[in-house]
Amino acid sequence: MAAEWRKALRALALTALAVVWVGCAPEHYPQSIFGPVTDFGVRINSLFTGIFWWTMLVLVIVESALIYILIRYRNRPGAEPRKVYGNNLAEIGWTVGPTLIVVFILVPTIRTIFYTYEPPESEPLVVEAVGHQWWWEFRYPELGVTTANELHLPVGRPIEVRLSSVDVIHNFWVPRLGGKRYNIPEPARAPDEPEGRNYNVLYFTVEEPGEYLGQCAEFCGTSHALMRMRVVAQSAEDFQAWVGAMTDTTRAVPGAVATAATAAPDTQSLEARGYQVFLRTGCTACHSITGTPAAGQLGPNLTRIGSRWAIGAGLLENNEENLARWIRNASALKPAAKMPPFPNLSDEDLQALVAYLSSLK
Ligand code: CUA
Repeated sequence: MAAEWRKALRALALTALAVVWVGCAPEHYPQSIFGPVTDFGVRINSLFTGIFWWTMLVLVIVESALIYILIRYRNRPGAEPRKVYGNNLAEIGWTVGPTLIVVFILVPTIRTIFYTYEPPESEPLVVEAVGHQWWWEFRYPELGVTTANELHLPVGRPIEVRLSSVDVIHNFWVPRLGGKRYNIPEPARAPDEPEGRNYNVLYFTVEEPGEYLGQCAEFCGTSHALMRMRVVAQSAEDFQAWVGAMTDTTRAVPGAVATAATAAPDTQSLEARGYQVFLRTGCTACHSITGTPAAGQLGPNLTRIGSRWAIGAGLLENNEENLARWIRNASALKPAAKMPPFPNLSDEDLQALVAYLSSLK
């Protein structure tokens, strides 16, 4: 009998351990808050852990007292109820007790709030994260870079994310970085009102290179659940290389470099034909590509679109087949997407366009 009990206990302990292990393993839950990679995330997490254990202590004390009292003062023949009304000691006890509990929660919480709003000591890298229905725009004003849905950040340098929106309220949330915080559309300002800061900010330093998934955390319309993003945290050198590639104006026009060298413009390749389709089909009204005349501001910036992990803000794997489906009819894949369908684009033109966009790496 004893051996069976031991076996059962061991199985139970292993199961509990497995549950804890899975719960702690961020690779199983890429959007878990339990694997913070920023100072911000670590602070929030330790606040949570601290409060969790305080409340567990309260639970044990209250439940023990309850069980003791239920047994000790259970109904017995001849027992009389005892009145404690007007007992000063008891009154003071159950006023002071909960007050102390609230103080133990309040003090670390307020300290953490102040910590997360404190600007970093060294100059942060400023990133503007702009919410759109339903995708993310990321601008680096100091670097002259704009991209979409994929936020590249250097590890070890403080980041200042300025959160805003062009339409409705969105919410920037990359659980492993910490957060979440609102993207609020710019409020109307009276003409005589002085310009002030009118956006939310998030300060953090990413400590660990890696790729972290995030998504909009405020219901913002039909495709709210399809408003995802990916953060690529990389070493300072890799980040510089990325910035260099993003600002390289020679990449986007097929054969541009060869043209300068050979004086023979490339008009024959599929990519070169795709580039012409891109220019004449109206794509440039909404999209920008660094190094081309395309300077539209309404849709995602497509500079180096071919290197991004997904299309449609995390909706589909980034491959030629999906890109063609997306261009043909985006709102069939993503409800209410603002990109218009292109039913009249010939299959040849579509294929060339997809080849051009995929070549932007
Ligand atoms: Cu944007 Cu939900």
